[in-house]
Amino acid sequence: MATNFDRPLILGIETSCDDTACAVIDGTGRVLSSAVSSQNVAHRPFGGVVPEIASREHLSNWPSVSAQALEEAALQMYDIDAVATTRGPGLVGCLLVGLSIGRSIAFALDRPFHGVHHLEGHLYSPFLSAQGEPSEDIPEQFMGLVVSGGHTSLLDVDGGKVTSLIETRDDAMGEVFDKVGKRMGLSFPQGPKVDQLAEQGQVLKTLFKVPPIKDAEPFFSFSGLKSQSLREIEKLEREGALEPGTPVDALPPAALNLLASFRDAAVRQIIDRLRRVHDRRRIDTLAVSGGVAANRLLRRRLVRWAEEAGVNLRLVPLKFSGDNAAMIAFAALMRQRRGIVDDPLDTVVASRIPFD
Ligand code: KG4
Ligand code: ZN
Repeated sequence: MATNFDRPLILGIETSCDDTACAVIDGTGRVLSSAVSSQNVAHRPFGGVVPEIASREHLSNWPSVSAQALEEAALQMYDIDAVATTRGPGLVGCLLVGLSIGRSIAFALDRPFHGVHHLEGHLYSPFLSAQGEPSEDIPEQFMGLVVSGGHTSLLDVDGGKVTSLIETRDDAMGEVFDKVGKRMGLSFPQGPKVDQLAEQGQVLKTLFKVPPIKDAEPFFSFSGLKSQSLREIEKLEREGALEPGTPVDALPPAALNLLASFRDAAVRQIIDRLRRVHDRRRIDTLAVSGGVAANRLLRRRLVRWAEEAGVNLRLVPLKFSGDNAAMIAFAALMRQRRGIVDDPLDTVVASRIPFD
């Protein structure tokens, strides 16, 4: 058994989409282990996540993922003090696998159980240490920007109470990276590849604009940028500047410039909205999380803006930006500290759950 830890030890389980994840954290928020098994190979032939395949993959991946998490933490399952699983939002079949496993462990060991909102997991993840240190102290009041394949949300957190300030009116930022990348012929998952290719392109400033805010309330919107980018790809093909089916490593400069301009416009929108909110009510601490928080340009621009604006920026460590179970266990630790536990029999999963 590991010796360097504090109670309670929390086992996290995350199966909301296509990653099977299990992690153990301790009472100081130290990540003792975080195992993630990607299903990329299974979904690649289809260009995106196939829900039925994802559920079955979770079932077959679980034994090795959980064994890895326990082994890395040098613990046995009966050492665990509490169990946490994601209850949604996500793919219902996938969530059910995680919930069934989590509640079985909680019952078998007679331990407290937590059903965690996926967004709550991402929200606190910037305070986790990737070096195995205890988590940072979470300020009473901070703002959270969650940018992923399913969410683009700016949230105000005050004493554990979460209020949404800005949401996307249509597509999430990561979703649009995936769709534009797919149209460009990139394989799943496309977001990181678009980011990588965009590093090699030149930004054509005139190509894409940030959607203007006409009324007082800011919003995110990425579907216009997506449609326009898809049209631009079509135009390149029509003009013969891009051959459909061109391999990634042979994409012409025009295609790389398009991807660079697309990424730049998406990131500019995020910074524009942050500026607007900061002008109205000062942001002291901004915690940025979610799969898209791995985006190189977004990270660079956020660092620059935060420096200029005097904002304390907490960027999620790359290890915890994509879906993982350490963030689910950590959100459960926050809940446990506030005296909240769930009844495993009352916990249900849902593809959409409001977060408040
Ligand atoms: O948080 P996450 O793992 O799952 C959801 O909760 O959605 O985020 C996955 C999303 C995908 O859309 C993926 O393409 C995107 O994050 N993503 C990126 C990058 N890395 C992952 N998008 C842009 N640039 C990246 N470097
Ligand atoms: Zn996520």
